[in-house]
Amino acid sequence: MTSIEKVYIENFKSHKNYSLYLDKKYKHIVIYGKNGVGNTNLLDSLSFFSNAKGLRGSSLEEILPKDKEINSFTKIKIKIQSIDNVYDFSLKIIKEDNKLKKKILLGDKKISLADIKKHIKIIWLSPYMDKIMYEGQTLKRNFIDKMIIQNDNSFNKIIISNKKDIAERLHVLKNAKDEKWLDILEKKIANDFYDIFVIRRQYAEELNNIISSKLKNFREVKIQYKNTLFKDLINKKDELIDLFLNELKNKRELDEITKRTNFSINSDEIIILDKKNNINTDACSTGEQKSSLLSIILANCWKLKNSNKKFILLLDEATSHIDEPNFKKLFDEVDKFETQIWYTGTNKNLFQVIENKGFFIHLQ
Ligand SMILES: Nc1ncnc2c1ncn2[C@@H]1O[C@H](COP(=O)(O)OP(=O)(O)OP(=O)(O)O)[C@@H](O)[C@H]1O
Ligand SMILES: [Mg+2]
Repeated sequence: MTSIEKVYIENFKSHKNYSLYLDKKYKHIVIYGKNGVGNTNLLDSLSFFSNAKGLRGSSLEEILPKDKEINSFTKIKIKIQSIDNVYDFSLKIIKEDNKLKKKILLGDKKISLADIKKHIKIIWLSPYMDKIMYEGQTLKRNFIDKMIIQNDNSFNKIIISNKKDIAERLHVLKNAKDEKWLDILEKKIANDFYDIFVIRRQYAEELNNIISSKLKNFREVKIQYKNTLFKDLINKKDELIDLFLNELKNKRELDEITKRTNFSINSDEIIILDKKNNINTDACSTGEQKSSLLSIILANCWKLKNSNKKFILLLDEATSHIDEPNFKKLFDEVDKFETQIWYTGTNKNLFQVIENKGFFIHLQ
């Protein structure tokens, strides 16, 4: 099993000095307490070992305690046990040249977040993610792209280099208008669009298969990428790349005037379909949306588990909007992973279904 055994937090938001030792035999860790005691902040501190801004998207300034002296900086240490390895990760915020900087260490060796992710991934669900299910395309796309990256970091490299090439194309359109250079750039952009197109659709199909085989008892959803522009070319690589190239070329003038790239692979529409009601999750009830979101996260956990990638799951307020039978089902599903799951909630009673299986921590 993969689990966090020790946590030490100094000067992280509302936590001035907090230590936690966890009993190895528990894989379900429940943090509970009244509003504002620091339940989410505790999970947030752990999420900084996976994401530069944590689960609430906080800057370094925002995590320093507001009411502390100027020179009190943040320190977080966690000890993770994973089958035959023990990792002592620490994160420090320091001030250098009057700027806040983050330093991450494994033991006493400086490492990056990407290095940590090679060993272990920290995955979460937080109330801030609820809107993925009902608000716009960008949130959905970024949410799914991030999960693809958890499985395959080369997708991140394609996305980053594609963004750079698109920015450079706009720059050339505005300044040099070097046709040869534009041709080369557009060829590269069109090829990357194709890779992104394929990787996203393959990933969606894999998740859909996992959901219908493993998560039928939870909530069945289906992720679909749709695009009317190339709906008849799905399996035709060369035609698709040609179409992308033509779109880019034909829009040079428009892009130059509007100073933006008017054709992008992100014009793909993502539809998340609730299979029980056979409607778009945008139109589902709040509780149904929460279960659908959880279904996708759990399917991604299965995918990580199947490829032997280690992860820890943080569920901030997973019980909100979810009724007791659905929470029981959620618990049955996460219990199948050989990993530690963290939960938060305002009241111990919310976790009655795991009363004998959980390690309960009351914050006050
Ligand atoms: N940089 C900071 N310094 C000090 N306190 C902070 C900082 N950032 C946030 N807080 C405070 O930390 C407290 C705990 O926040 P947290 O999000 O952990 O609450 P919670 O226990 O999860 O409550 P709820 O049940 O309402 O979600 C809040 O009162 C918040 O204002
Ligand atoms: Mg909270």
